Amino acid sequence: MYKYVIHGGKPLFGEIEISGAKNAAVGILPAALMVDGVCRIENVPQISDVTLCLEILSGLGAEVRMINKNTVEIDSRHIRNFSVPDDLCRRMRASYYLIGALLGRFGKAQVSLPGGCDFGIRPIDLHIKGFEKLGATVSVRSGFVYANAEEDGLTGAHIYMDQVSVGATMNVMMAAALSKGQTIIETAAKEPHVVDLANFLNTMGAHIMGAGTDVIKIRGVERLHGGTYSIIPDQIEAGTYMACVAAAGGNVLIRNVIPKHMDCITSKLEEMGVEVREDGDNIRIIRKRPLTRTNVNTMPYPGFPTDMQPQITACLCLANGTSRVNEGVWDNRFRYVNEFRRMGAKIQADGKWAVVEGVSQLTGAPLQACDLRAGAAMVVAGLAAKGTTEIGNIHYIERGYDDLVGKLRGVGADITIIACPDEDSVTAAG
Ligand code: EPZ
Repeated sequence: MYKYVIHGGKPLFGEIEISGAKNAAVGILPAALMVDGVCRIENVPQISDVTLCLEILSGLGAEVRMINKNTVEIDSRHIRNFSVPDDLCRRMRASYYLIGALLGRFGKAQVSLPGGCDFGIRPIDLHIKGFEKLGATVSVRSGFVYANAEEDGLTGAHIYMDQVSVGATMNVMMAAALSKGQTIIETAAKEPHVVDLANFLNTMGAHIMGAGTDVIKIRGVERLHGGTYSIIPDQIEAGTYMACVAAAGGNVLIRNVIPKHMDCITSKLEEMGVEVREDGDNIRIIRKRPLTRTNVNTMPYPGFPTDMQPQITACLCLANGTSRVNEGVWDNRFRYVNEFRRMGAKIQADGKWAVVEGVSQLTGAPLQACDLRAGAAMVVAGLAAKGTTEIGNIHYIERGYDDLVGKLRGVGADITIIACPDEDSVTAAG
């Protein structure tokens, strides 16, 4: 097994190139199963969630050809298998997208219940409700989801989501793309990756309108044809590196972003005294003065993203004054707080709230990542801390960040990966 070793306290200078968005890729790759042709997908991030997705697609009989490290061709014309094995599915949350894709393509799916970073219960009732509204029969038993619409196929419906759900929106949109008639999804999620999946499906011949708004309309088509699509840059990866500079100080140009996607993160960092300059597809982040406190409420896009909550909290640990963080999406996303306390952070958390009293300095300590974004936040804190920080369980982090060590070393961070004794059991990431 491996760990990160960081010698912190050094400001960062240079440039970082952002990779393709993880949460778009883990939806778009399963959606390739729906295409009766060859999909060429570019700007795919080199992360283990993507590797796992491609392994699952191959297992179903798709032909998967890596053209280069960030481009893959997927030919799903000859797949006939609609059952996905348990051991692969439970290693990530996004395996639920296989249900929507297989249901849309074949009218049936048998997929193990997904895994997912452990920050509270992560039900899929809204996914199931959507599939049932489209006419599928869905049952959950012995750890598997069985969905079937073979008799009459899927028929468009007017679907009201009981709450905003990224996964349910993307999953139902996928299944509806190959159904008969029109589907309307109300209270739809508006995240950049929802729009990216809709754009991918439309490139392949689907008819989806309104993605990125509260109401998505889908006119079902008979089949999807092949084509080429490039995944958007990762909003959360970019935000994470912005937090690294905010915490450690310095001046870094973050390249290949969509500035509009960064607005909610940029405005929060500016409240904390960080200078952010947009420049086309790039964003420069400068932090010279000490950080100032602020409050954070995470919410669905375009609000401040929950997937940036641990990272911004790491910055608040070093801000002058006392800050409050409200986790508006997940029930238990402060499990990392005790790790920050080991570094001298003054932070109290209770359920969906944390109160952070900024300190002048954090000190390096041995830490254990407990999920994907909490692990990334420990890197943020370690870069700022005086002394050495070691982070174990980095398999969580490597599921969602492409070459994190290489990118940080490229801006002067003293971070290395070293082998270490075995870690706790490998569980899924978000
Ligand atoms: C996606 O998870 C992301 N994962 C998560 O990112 C992200 O935190 C989350 O969206 C919110 O933005 C992927 O895209 C693979 P939800 P998802 O459905 O789809 C409740 C990361 O770090 N809910 O939007 O599982 C749910 O409990 C990961 O990259 C239901 O009640 O999130 C939560 O309170 C971590 N029933 C809320 O909705 C359902 O059927 C939002 O969940 C589905 C969700």
